[in-house]
Amino acid sequence: MTCGSVDDGKSTLIGRLLFDTKQIFEDQWQALRNDSRRFGTQGDAPDLALLVDGLQAEREQGITIDVAYRFFSTPRRAFIVADAPGHEQYTRNMAVAASTADCAVVLVDARKGVVTQTRRHSRIVALMGVNRVLLAVNKMDLVDWSHARFTAICADYAALAHALGLSVQAVPLSALTGDNLSATCTRTPWYDGPTLLEWLEQVPAARHDESAPLHLPVQLVLRPNADFRGYCGTIAQGQVRTGDCLRVLPSGVDATVETVRVGFDPVAHARAGSAVCLTLREERDISRGDVLVTADARIDQAEQFHAHVVWVGEQALLPGRPYWLKLHHRTVSAVVTTIRHLVDADTGTHLSAREAPMNSIAAVHLSADRPLPFTPYTDDRELGGFILIDRMTQATVGAGMIDFALRRDSNLHWQALAVDKAARAQIKHQHARCVWLTGLSGSGKSTIANLLEQRLHTQGRHTYVLDGDNVRHGLNRDLGFTQADRVENIRRVAEVAKLMVDAGLIVIVAFISPFRAEREFARSLFAPGEFLEVFVDTPLEECEQRDPKGLYAKARRGEIPGFTGIASPYEAPLHAEFHLQTSAESAQTLAERIAQGL
Ligand code: ADX
Repeated sequence: MTCGSVDDGKSTLIGRLLFDTKQIFEDQWQALRNDSRRFGTQGDAPDLALLVDGLQAEREQGITIDVAYRFFSTPRRAFIVADAPGHEQYTRNMAVAASTADCAVVLVDARKGVVTQTRRHSRIVALMGVNRVLLAVNKMDLVDWSHARFTAICADYAALAHALGLSVQAVPLSALTGDNLSATCTRTPWYDGPTLLEWLEQVPAARHDESAPLHLPVQLVLRPNADFRGYCGTIAQGQVRTGDCLRVLPSGVDATVETVRVGFDPVAHARAGSAVCLTLREERDISRGDVLVTADARIDQAEQFHAHVVWVGEQALLPGRPYWLKLHHRTVSAVVTTIRHLVDADTGTHLSAREAPMNSIAAVHLSADRPLPFTPYTDDRELGGFILIDRMTQATVGAGMIDFALRRDSNLHWQALAVDKAARAQIKHQHARCVWLTGLSGSGKSTIANLLEQRLHTQGRHTYVLDGDNVRHGLNRDLGFTQADRVENIRRVAEVAKLMVDAGLIVIVAFISPFRAEREFARSLFAPGEFLEVFVDTPLEECEQRDPKGLYAKARRGEIPGFTGIASPYEAPLHAEFHLQTSAESAQTLAERIAQGL
């Protein structure tokens, strides 16, 4: 991938590479040169995108992640150049580009040297696991090919590279004239290193270490008939041969490779990067999301991780909110339990934060709902790199890298108790349930909850009401009304409700619970049929008119920041089990309706 600020000459450098390797022709190159001259310091040569195809735009929810891919080849190698915009608001684009790159060309302008952007780009590149960097000291013609200037820039960059663990080759060059790009320059007798192209031709590609143990995440199980079962996927690391003994994760059983196919053709062996289909000698229960590894490979499984996340979602990352986590081909539910800190990409400084906004880099603790086979991202990007997906919109909101597993879960076991939920409920002659009332403040949740409990109590049912105002005085007294705090508020009360249902109770929860994501999370904690969502639907105007606690009046005067319905959104349920319209019927009738449905 290439990184640099707009006027460091990135487009000219790519254009020159394409010209020198004969992917574009003299007249196109001249046009590009003229444009660069004409536009001078103003920015990218505007016509490059027209000259070369391949602008890839990924559009999600109106978000555009633009990375332009260019292609060229020499007799020795074929290259794909990922060209991502470098402004701060494009951190996520750079991260996307870097996640697939083997090496990075970092451009600096010889006149300006290492600038803030150089530091940011290098930090993102390093974070995404790219550790081979060519420092292209461009526009050397404008500083008279000064050896002293070049040495000073190299020294400046060396300190940063050392801190980030980058291995660097610096090349003094001029993208415009092509000196030290593909042709050795006569103006730099003091430089005896490779040209940019020579370096690119010999730099090791990251994923082709054949001695590494096999990592093959299973993407698809083919079963065209009863006799054939093929396990398909792209080899992330190492190689596979017929006769190899493999281990299946997470189950841990072993199996022997019978055939290896690439496409329809049987082959003796295949290596990293190949899409293969394996058959095994033994019959094994393997499904999508499992991982096949060399039998003696050391791969851990864990539920809780320390990880870095580049947040690409427009809505901030909120600890406690559940997201889908997709690691290779396995998708599980996960929450960020803690934001350890944000990393300032410009300086590397750690900043404390309660949420992570778009384009930020966060160090987090993550907790998945089941164990995952993984490696640290630095060992294998496929088994250590994940994405986080919004459960409501299905948009990708984060790109993550696992650093290490947190051992805290490995000594905790779910205690299986002899008396279970059903037994506890049975002695009370009832089915345990969670009745979850959601609606605006003043909509009537507490009133209905109260009537419902009275009604059930007279029938001899064992109940308990969890009410927002009450729980906020105790368990959740440390929480306010920011989005992050509300997410945590609901997470805790959902977990408490779950324990109470486990105790055999009928739990009535009356919280505004304004966000769908958290209500869905609450639902996911319960068995099917156990969780009943009740939408207490009272129009805002009416809640405001009733205003039992005088809060709407205060909120209108600007005295309560983030008041739901006024300065903070309420997301109405889409599939509630009960939809109660309080303007049409009395609270008594509505409570009765719920009681009959239990
Ligand atoms: S929730 O949004 O996090 O689910 P919860 O149900 O616990 O809210 O608490 C809501 C109660 O807190 C309201 O009934 C009201 O009495 C009080 N309150 C104080 N500040 C706010 C606010 N900014 N928005 C909504 N309710 C608030």
